[in-house]
Amino acid sequence: MKYLTLKDTKLCKIGFGTWTIGDDPSKKNDEINVFETGYQKYQMTLIDTAEMYGRGKSEKVIGEFLKGKKREDFFVVDKILPENALKGDYLKSCKRSLEIMGLEYFDLYLLHWKSRVNLQEMVDAMENLVSLGLIKRWGVSNFDADDMEELFKCRNGNHCFANQCLYNISQRGVEYDLIPWCEKHNVLFMAYSPFGSNKENRDIIVNNPYIQELVKKKNISYESLMLSFVIRHHIVITMFKTSSITHLEDNMRNAFDELSEEDFVLIDKAFPKPHKKEYLEKI
Ligand SMILES: NC(=O)c1ccc[n+]([C@@H]2O[C@H](COP(=O)([O-])OP(=O)(O)OC[C@H]3O[C@@H](n4cnc5c(N)ncnc54)[C@H](OP(=O)(O)O)[C@@H]3O)[C@@H](O)[C@H]2O)c1
Repeated sequence: MKYLTLKDTKLCKIGFGTWTIGDDPSKKNDEINVFETGYQKYQMTLIDTAEMYGRGKSEKVIGEFLKGKKREDFFVVDKILPENALKGDYLKSCKRSLEIMGLEYFDLYLLHWKSRVNLQEMVDAMENLVSLGLIKRWGVSNFDADDMEELFKCRNGNHCFANQCLYNISQRGVEYDLIPWCEKHNVLFMAYSPFGSNKENRDIIVNNPYIQELVKKKNISYESLMLSFVIRHHIVITMFKTSSITHLEDNMRNAFDELSEEDFVLIDKAFPKPHKKEYLEKI
């Protein structure tokens, strides 16, 4: 594993995503097996979830996996739905998620997306959760650069630890201004959907002839390439979802290989880097 240290916190560069985990009860053993293998073999200790994912089903499976494990070994991220933030239910949502998972605290708690949430109220509520010891730090998700500017104008807004956004080899808009903004302000950028999330988006990547040429030349999997592409920035970590041990191993095998300038010639031909502002894409 490779690590990033930010504000005295050591984070693994690649962790687990858990969207759809828990949706199909017959897959539970496979899902827990993947977490266990990722932890033992690759030191994947970051787990990202949300109260939205299966309305608690994903949190429940993760809770089962974490049971009996040393809590300090893991970095657990959860997210509150804007609809609950809008009702002012920060404490209620956070406590419910902790209870489902059998945990005493989250390492990081995010507002899932901005919606019409009052940012000063959100910051105050998050700071309150920190002071109660229910979360160690807080952050946001799906915030574009102008949203981050607005957040940083709030009292204690600059305590925001992370912004979690869509970023992968074929969706590079955030390279233009959002990743540089996060670098400048020391805010962790958590890249979600590094494989494009679904088959349709993944196919756009794996059917691209320049990408095909590159993986052949490097003799690595498409997913290893997609992971090494996003984590090359100092401030960026990522998390992917899989319920398959074979996929886990294919993904991690060469995920920390460096990409050369030559490699980037092919990548930029396949999916050019942005030369102007592109509005933040979301899933
Ligand atoms: N904050 C937000 O708004 C937001 C939005 C989306 C996602 N997220 C977070 O980011 C995490 C990752 O994003 P994601 O789940 O959308 O998508 P992703 O990790 O980019 O892709 C997941 C999909 O890729 C497949 N896959 C994995 N390895 C593969 C391989 N080697 N070959 C072929 N297929 C493979 C998985 O299927 P298998 O299980 O069959 O491997 C799954 O269908 C989420 O789980 C969630 O925690 C956050």
